[in-house]
Amino acid sequence: MNNNDHKNTAISIAREAGALLREGYRQTKEISSKSTDIDLVTQYDTRAEELIVGRLRDAFPGDAIVGEEGQYSNNPNGSGRTWFVDPLDGTVNFAHGFPVFAVSLALYSGDRPLVAVIYDPLRDECFHAAAGKGAFLSARGAAGDDQSLQVSQGTELASSLLATGFPYDKHHSAQDNLAQFGAFLKRTRGIRRAGSAALDIAYVAAGRVDGYWEYKLSSWDVAAGVLLVQEAGGRISAVDGGPFGLMPEQKNALVASNGRIHEEIVGLLESIPA
Ligand code: IPD
Ligand code: CA
Ligand code: CA
Repeated sequence: MNNNDHKNTAISIAREAGALLREGYRQTKEISSKSTDIDLVTQYDTRAEELIVGRLRDAFPGDAIVGEEGQYSNNPNGSGRTWFVDPLDGTVNFAHGFPVFAVSLALYSGDRPLVAVIYDPLRDECFHAAAGKGAFLSARGAAGDDQSLQVSQGTELASSLLATGFPYDKHHSAQDNLAQFGAFLKRTRGIRRAGSAALDIAYVAAGRVDGYWEYKLSSWDVAAGVLLVQEAGGRISAVDGGPFGLMPEQKNALVASNGRIHEEIVGLLESIPA
């Protein structure tokens, strides 16, 4: 099996989990909280993760799995590969009936991304990439082949549209991204806080926003988006402009952009005291 085969399997798993979420979105949700009282989980996060982990184990028994809702398994046969699974990115949106959420799956070999799939079940948009093979969008109603994705062309922060998000400890932590948000608000056309990091980053790959930054993200929030942006010709870095590498829970801080405005984003972030 090559990366494209892995990707096609991941796409069908993400679509299946997405169908479960689409159905659950219209039902009554059982909502409880996790790391803080605004970090939510519903029965559909759990069900979607169970479905995804079951399918991945069947298809790739040698691969490790890191899933947000606690489905961890190590590398029984030592393939050296790991799947990062966010079964429902945008749980607060999902719980409130705000129609922005996604399934995010990524396959890594060590720290090297191989495959990325981000599926938005309400719009039936599937963003996907395999290393070295480009980034694509399969969209509802689009005739023929998948659409090849390229980042936007804008060269100036002043005429850019950005995306970001805020951490779940924002009620208590001084590192709440508000100073950074205020600074970018004054220097760009606008900032969107849609509530799904995976879709935010996929939208950088698709050229729908020019750049994105966020702090305190988990590996499963960003693992797929990183490859999508790189394969769409964009740039990913740590917030200080250095190389970005996936970190364990809530330790990921990154900038994703079209490349052309990357230095401006990093420069502004660096100018704000931590
Ligand atoms: C969250 C979303 C949100 C981001 C949070 C994430 P979840 O993921 O991606 O946009 O700001 O930091 O944790 O909890 O909905 O899977
Ligand atoms: Ca998430
Ligand atoms: Ca999630």
